[in-house]
Amino acid sequence: MITSSNTSPISQINKVIPLLEKNYGNNLDSDYTEKIQELDRNFNYSANSNVYWSEPEHSILYGTPLYEQASLSQKLALNHLHWVLFYKRVADSETELIHYNTITADCLMAANSDYKMLVELLAHETYQERQHIHAFSQINYKTTKALLGKKALVNPVSHETTVREQKSDKSANYISTAANLIAMMLPGKKQSYADSDKYLSFPTNGFFNGFSGKSDISRKQFFSDNWRSYPFLAANFYAVRYMANLLLKNHEFGIHCYFKKMHKNNEFIASPTAISHYHFLDEAFHTTTSLFLGRDFHKYLPKPSRYEKWIANLAILQAQHENLNAISGISTNRFLSDGDVIIYLMKLLQSPVFDMSSQEAIQWIEKCLCYEHEGFHVNLKVHHKLLSELRKFAEQLDYLWPVNREMRVMASGGSIKKAIKNNIKAFNQFSIAI
Ligand SMILES: [Fe+2]
Ligand SMILES: [Fe+2]
Repeated sequence: MITSSNTSPISQINKVIPLLEKNYGNNLDSDYTEKIQELDRNFNYSANSNVYWSEPEHSILYGTPLYEQASLSQKLALNHLHWVLFYKRVADSETELIHYNTITADCLMAANSDYKMLVELLAHETYQERQHIHAFSQINYKTTKALLGKKALVNPVSHETTVREQKSDKSANYISTAANLIAMMLPGKKQSYADSDKYLSFPTNGFFNGFSGKSDISRKQFFSDNWRSYPFLAANFYAVRYMANLLLKNHEFGIHCYFKKMHKNNEFIASPTAISHYHFLDEAFHTTTSLFLGRDFHKYLPKPSRYEKWIANLAILQAQHENLNAISGISTNRFLSDGDVIIYLMKLLQSPVFDMSSQEAIQWIEKCLCYEHEGFHVNLKVHHKLLSELRKFAEQLDYLWPVNREMRVMASGGSIKKAIKNNIKAFNQFSIAI
C-alpha cells in the first residue's frame, strides 16, 4: 500500500490517498459481492414472482390511469419490470465503467507511480462491477422471458424510436460540434472526431455513453481520449461517476429501506430486493471513491489548463444532457423524456401481461403520457431531491461553468408541463410513423 516514500513530492502532500486507502480496506473486508453472487446463482423467477420487489411506487406506469385499474398480478409484473428496466441501465453504465476505470487508472499511474494503490482499488471495483452486471443480466433475462415472452428478449428495453433518434441527434450535434472545434485546435489532431474511424465498440446505453446513436461515436471516443490523457481529466471523470453514483443511490436507497422493512417484519424477501440491498452497500464504497477522486484529488495535481477545464465542463454538461434532461410519467427514477420508451410500452401492453391489441395499446399510451397524472408528480419530487444533491456537489468544484454548477440543464427539465408537451409531440410522431 501507499507509504510516505520519497519517490515523489506529490504523493507526500496528497491527503486524499490515505482516505482512499481506508475506503479500499473497508471494501476488501466486506462480503456484499459474494452475497450477490450467491443470490445470482440461485435465482428462479417463479420463486420470487408473488411478492413486490420494492415499494409499489417503484413500478412502471405507477400513478397512471392504467395502473389504477391494473390487477394485482399486473401490478406485480409492473413492479418487477421496473426493477429490470432500472438495472438494465445500471448494468450498461457499469459495463462502460469497466473501460473508464481502467483508462483513468492507467493515466493516474503514469502521472505518479505512487498511485499504485489507486490502480488496485479501481481494479477491485471493476471486478465487483463484473459480478453486479452478471447478476443484473441473469435476473433481467429470466424475468423478461417469464413475463414478456421470448420475443421480448430481442432488444427487451429498446429505446430506439424515430423520435428519440431525432432528439438525440440535436443534443449530440451540440456537444459533438464543441468537441470537434476543440479537437481541431489541438496540435496533431487534424482529423475531425466526427470522421474518425476510431471508436468505442461496446453497444451500451448507460450513464456515460448515453443513448448514443451512431452519430455519438465520435463523442465517446473524444471523452475517452481526454480522460485517458490528462491526470486532471482522469480525476474529473470521477466527478461524472459521482453524478451516476448519486442517481443510482437516489433510487436504490428506497429498495434498501424496503429490504430492511421486510427483514424487520420477518417477511419473505425476494432475491432481487436482496441483490439491490447488497449492491447499495457495495456501491457505497464506489461512491466514496468517486467523491474523493472527483472532488478533492485534482487539488493535488498541477493546475489545469484552460483546455482541460473546458473538457471537464463539457463532460459534466454531457452527463446532464444525456441523463437528466426531463421528467417522466411512467417511472419515478427516470429523468428522460417518455418519448424514448414508446416502443417498449407497446411491447409491454401487447405482451401476455396486458394482452392488448395494438389499437388499445396506442390509446392507453396516449392516456398515460399525454395527460397529467400522479406519476408525473411523484417523479418531480424525486427529481427535486436529486437536483439539490447534485448542486451541493457541483458547488464544490470551482472550475465549473454556472450551467454545470447550478445543474441548469437538469433544472430546466423539471417541469410537468414541458414533459407533457414533449410527450404529445413524440406520441404524434409515433402515431404517424406506425
Ligand atoms: Fe455496481
Ligand atoms: Fe460501482
